[in-house]
Amino acid sequence: MKKSSAVTTPTFLFLCLLLLLPLLARSNDDLIDKICQATPFCDLCEASLRPLSPSPSDPKSLASAMANVVLGNLTDTLGYIQSLIKHTHEPAAERALAQCAELYRPVVKFNIPQAIDAMRRGQFGFATYVLGDAEKQTDSCQKGINSTGANDESAVAITARNKQVKNLCDVAISVLKSLMNGR
Ligand SMILES: *[C@@H]1O[C@H](CO)[C@@H](O)[C@H](O)[C@H]1NC(C)=O
Ligand SMILES: *[C@@H]1O[C@H](CO)[C@@H](O)[C@H](O)[C@H]1NC(C)=O
Repeated sequence: MKKSSAVTTPTFLFLCLLLLLPLLARSNDDLIDKICQATPFCDLCEASLRPLSPSPSDPKSLASAMANVVLGNLTDTLGYIQSLIKHTHEPAAERALAQCAELYRPVVKFNIPQAIDAMRRGQFGFATYVLGDAEKQTDSCQKGINSTGANDESAVAITARNKQVKNLCDVAISVLKSLMNGR
């Protein structure tokens, strides 16, 4: 039994610290968990916020980061739509695509960047409104795509992207609501 006293106090403290380190490193993750679990698409929320480096460490940076993910995806979708317009020769499809591009351009260029700016000044209500509006634009775009009756590869791809952007907007709005409710 004498052997156990060979573990000196400094060694013991060091071992305790080693055990604590992973817990300390996880505190950001726990904030992400807590915030994401309150959103309607927890997996999407986690997939959006986990890979970020440096990891956002407070609710306000999480909300900004989420709005940036929406902006990234919508920018990407707009680029995809614009590339399709160049290669489409079917008038109905071309009209639907052009309408989507028109809907998305101001949202990508002005509205969401403005919302991200407003969040820095604490105007979370305005940011929530803008993201809700962006979500409505994805519905309008999708209606147009649906009305062409097209079910080819590009229609399927746009539908998937629209859905992703819509869900990301839902997540971002929910993160903003958590922030506004001080949770
Ligand atoms: C779109 O959202 C997904 C899921 O959050 C993310 O992993 C991806 O990086 C985003 N894409 C762009 C271009 O921002
Ligand atoms: C578009 O069509 C899909 C199924 O084809 C449907 O689930 C979706 O609700 C429609 N979207 C809109 C905005 O009309």
